[in-house]
Formats: sequence, structure tokens, C-alpha cells
Amino acid sequence: MSADYLHKEYPKQFDRDAFWEQIKRTVNGKPVSDQDIRMIVDQIQSSLDLRSDERLLDLGCGNAALASYLFGHVQQYFGVDFSDYLIGVAREFFSHAGKTHYYCDDAVAFTNAFEYPEKIDKVVIYGVISYLAAADVEHLVSTLSNRYTSCKRIFIGNIPHRSKAAVFFRRRNVEQYRLDDPESAIGIWWAPEEFIRIGNMFGYDVDILTMPESFYGAEYRFDVLLKRP
Ligand SMILES: C[S@@+](CC[C@H](N)C(=O)[O-])C[C@H]1O[C@@H](n2cnc3c(N)ncnc32)[C@H](O)[C@@H]1O
Repeated sequence: MSADYLHKEYPKQFDRDAFWEQIKRTVNGKPVSDQDIRMIVDQIQSSLDLRSDERLLDLGCGNAALASYLFGHVQQYFGVDFSDYLIGVAREFFSHAGKTHYYCDDAVAFTNAFEYPEKIDKVVIYGVISYLAAADVEHLVSTLSNRYTSCKRIFIGNIPHRSKAAVFFRRRNVEQYRLDDPESAIGIWWAPEEFIRIGNMFGYDVDILTMPESFYGAEYRFDVLLKRP
């Protein structure tokens, strides 16, 4: 499955308001529960400590259905995704004049080129990082550290946990799987220690976080919070 198919073509088969199906936030094909969505929003909000006068950059925002729960917590929201279709859905359903700004672009290219990096206070990257090549992740954190000088916190969420992969695939009777392929359905499976290394290298304190046990992805995923001391 190519990245273009997975992210740009796959979502088009669903109704324009089938938000969770479009981005595969499903269990057995059904959207995850409202409670699961609430747990994600709470985790992002409490980790980033969003304030009403802040500007939030969301890299790989998809259709912005998740981000829409955060709009009330910030002054300005900047959403970036390389799927034309998903950004179209975001613009159609989740636009708020004067608050939301959407860009159809690659997350890494956008972060390098954005004209006003110093305006961004916080960054969220949810369910996306596993689809970037490992070298791009390092490059991205480096750019955020160097160019986004006002940004105090970066939340990187829903990362597949490398040491949990064997159990995950065994339970699904999958014998052949790849852990290092950003173009696979789940993407790269990361060890938390790698994020500690990358974060520390670019001057961040790093917290490794998990979700409550009742969260649908709790067993196989973790979150990372990068904080500037
Ligand atoms: C699972 S969805 C998550 C969407 C949203 N962050 C959320 O949590 O609801 C992954 C998103 O990452 C986007 N994506 C993957 N690689 C990307 C890249 N290199 N640049 C921009 N967007 C990317 C896909 O188009 C897709 O919308």
C-alpha cells in the first residue's frame, strides 16, 4: 500500500462527514467511541496546557475532526495535511473565520517553509509520526527547535510501540510484518527511548506518556511530550 493510496485515496470512499472512517480511527471498521475521542482530547489538552491566547500548529491534521475539539482552547489554529481531500473536508466542516487556517502540504516541507514560525506557541502531531521516515522525524524536531523559537511544547501522539508489535501481529495471525516501513498501514514502530534521544539532542525535556487502560489503543501505542526547559 503506497502512502499516496493510504492517506490520499483511501479516505475518498467514505461520505464527507464520515470523519473517523476517513482517517481510520476505527475498530473492526466502526468509529471509535466518543469516550475514546474524549480521552485523546484530554491527553493533548492536559499535556500541551493550551491557553486561550495561544496559537496551535497541527501537523498531519487530517480532516481536523479531532482538532475541532481543541479550537475552544486556543486563539488560532493552523492545520497542515498533504491530503487534498482531507483538507477539503476540514475546510468544509471545521472552518472558523479568523481562527482556523488550513494548508495542503507535506508536514516536513511546511515546517521548513512556514513564514511565521515564531507565532506558534504549541505543536500537536497526532497519529502521523509513524508515517514519516525516521530521518525526517529527526529533521522535523530539529526544525521545530531551531525555527519555532516561541514554541514551548510539542505533543507527538499515538505512536506504535516497537516492543508491543510482536503481540499485536500474533493476535491478528499476521506472521510477516515490517516495523521500519513508513508506507505500511501502521507505519514505523518506535521505541520510546529513540524519542528521548532525539528530544534531548535538540534541547527538550521528554515525557513518555500512556493512555488510560480503557483506551482502544492503550496496549500498543504511546505518546511523547517535548518540553522546552
Ligand atoms: C491517522 S490520520 C490522523 C489525522 C489527525 N491528526 C487526527 O488525529 O485525527 C494521519 C494523517 O497524517 C497525514 N499525513 C501522513 N504523512 C503526512 C505528511 N508527510 N505530511 C502531511 N500529512 C501527512 C495523512 O494524510 C492523514 O491525514
